[in-house]
Amino acid sequence: MTHARQHLTQVVAHRGASEDAPEHTLAAYRKAIEDGADALECDVRLTADGHLVCVHDRRVNRTSNGRGAVSALELSDLAALDFGSWKSRDAFGGPRVEEPDWEHRPEDREATSVLTLERLLELVSDAGRRVELAIETKHPTRWAGQVEERLLLLLKRFGLDAPAAAEDSPVRVMSFSARSLHRVRAASPTLPTVHLMQFVSPRLRDGRLPTGVRIAGPSIRIVRSHPVFIERLKQSGHQVHVWTVNEPEDVDLCVRLGVDAIITNRPRAVLDQLGR
Ligand code: G3P
Ligand code: CA
Repeated sequence: MTHARQHLTQVVAHRGASEDAPEHTLAAYRKAIEDGADALECDVRLTADGHLVCVHDRRVNRTSNGRGAVSALELSDLAALDFGSWKSRDAFGGPRVEEPDWEHRPEDREATSVLTLERLLELVSDAGRRVELAIETKHPTRWAGQVEERLLLLLKRFGLDAPAAAEDSPVRVMSFSARSLHRVRAASPTLPTVHLMQFVSPRLRDGRLPTGVRIAGPSIRIVRSHPVFIERLKQSGHQVHVWTVNEPEDVDLCVRLGVDAIITNRPRAVLDQLGR
C-alpha cells in the first residue's frame, strides 16, 4: 500500500467482486484484485468478543449457513460457518447454480469463511500494487465508539491510521452515521471520511455537509434524481463517491458528472466500460 495514488475515476469493488463471488469473502476480494479494482469496499461489525469482521447484515442468516446477530456471536462461532454456499443459489433460495462464476475450491476453506478486517488488510498489503480500502462502519451507535476505537487500533498496527495527508491515504472510513465519522476524525484528523447518503435533506441539498467531511457518498438514486446536487458538490471542492453503480447507463452518468469513485458489484465490467 505504498504505491502512488492514481488520479482516475476509481473503481471500487463493493463487498468485493460481489456479483461473481460471495460478498465479503476472501474469494470476492481476491477476484476484485485480479479484476483490477482500484479499491475494495467492506462493511465492518464487532463480534461479541471484540473482533472486527466484514459482514453487511446485522445477522448472518442471509450470507451464511448460520443464524443470529454478529454482535451476539464470537469469532470462533462465525469461523465455524460457511459464508460461500448461499451464492450458489439465487437470492430467494431458487435452484442451485451448477457452475458458479467464481473459483470455489472446497479445500480452500478460508476463501469462504468469515473474513476479519485484519485478514483483509493483510490481503491488501500483499496485493503487489496499490489497492485502497473503503471501510464502512456498521452499527456504530450500539457499541458507542468501540467500532471506531478497534478500527483505529487495527489500522495503527498496519501503519495506516495517521496518513501524512488525506489525499495520500490508501484507507478511508465511510458511514451513514455522522457521529461515527466524527469519532474517527477526532482521533485521526488526516484519515479521510466519506459521508454516505441515502436521502438528500434540504441541508445537504444546499451543499452543507457535516464539518470536516470532504467526501460525499450519495447513492446512485440520488445522482439520478439530483444531478445538480452532485455538480454543486464538485464545484464546492468535494469528492463524490457513488454507490452502488451496476448499470452501464449509470456508469456513463457518473463519468459525465465527474464523480471520483464508482462503487460497484461488477468491477471488471465497469473497468471495461471505462476502457481500462
Ligand atoms: O458503499 C456504500 C454502500 O455500501 C452503502 O450501502 O447497504 O451496501 O452498505 P450498503
Ligand atoms: Ca457498505
